[in-house]
Amino acid sequence: MKKLIVGNWKMNPQTTRDAVKLFKDVVREARTITKASVAVCAPDMYLNPLAALKEKKVSLGAQDLFWEKEGAFTGEASGAMIANSGAKMVIVGHSERRARGESDEDIARKVKAALAAKLIPILCVGERERAGEGEHISFVTAQLTAALKGLPRVDASHVVVAYEPIWAIGKQAKRSATKEEGLEMAIVIRRTLAHLFTRPVAESIPILYGGSVDEKNAKDFLFDAGMDGLLVGRASLSAKTFGGIVRTANTGI
Ligand code: PGA
Repeated sequence: MKKLIVGNWKMNPQTTRDAVKLFKDVVREARTITKASVAVCAPDMYLNPLAALKEKKVSLGAQDLFWEKEGAFTGEASGAMIANSGAKMVIVGHSERRARGESDEDIARKVKAALAAKLIPILCVGERERAGEGEHISFVTAQLTAALKGLPRVDASHVVVAYEPIWAIGKQAKRSATKEEGLEMAIVIRRTLAHLFTRPVAESIPILYGGSVDEKNAKDFLFDAGMDGLLVGRASLSAKTFGGIVRTANTGI
């Protein structure tokens, strides 16, 4: 499958003007890319202005959604609102949202709501720390099962899973995962998905790695760790760096 490179802008940038500039710069970087798919998950308020640019090369995504369809839910955005704003995908269960109280049940509802709105959910899973032997494996397996159990197979084939070990995310992270750690988890995740949905469905689900991805380590995860793509935080805020990662994915070594 084509590699999928997704930028997660988080709560950046601060103005629509800067968002449009960054997006246009990313589009320019991605212009010649044929062997990778590129997407940017932007804050909700930038989706409409970015979608209005009608760029085909870079898809848009949101960073969260609420599971209810409409009503008295102050501050929330429904799947339909997000889809109608031009997004094709939505991050679900990012660790920064789990840390603010989002439960496994909430995340399962959000996955279903995203699919109902024809959005691709990018389901984030990942352990907080590497403690006892193999604990991260049972932890991630449980997260995946809680979020996806009972989903019809046809729906499951529209899901993307992102393995994001929390200890590897953000400025305070000491390091990214290694390619060996990534490979182990790609296998664990694929096996869990096969268990839940059959092997062919599991093989159709892209597995991304996220956590301190940069231009240097991107190739390790893309070509040596069994990952189908990357979820890129900080490095997606520089079009040049993100462009470098996208070009690496495009080499298809
Ligand atoms: P990072 O963030 O690349 O800045 O570590 C990744 C993420 O949280 O998705």
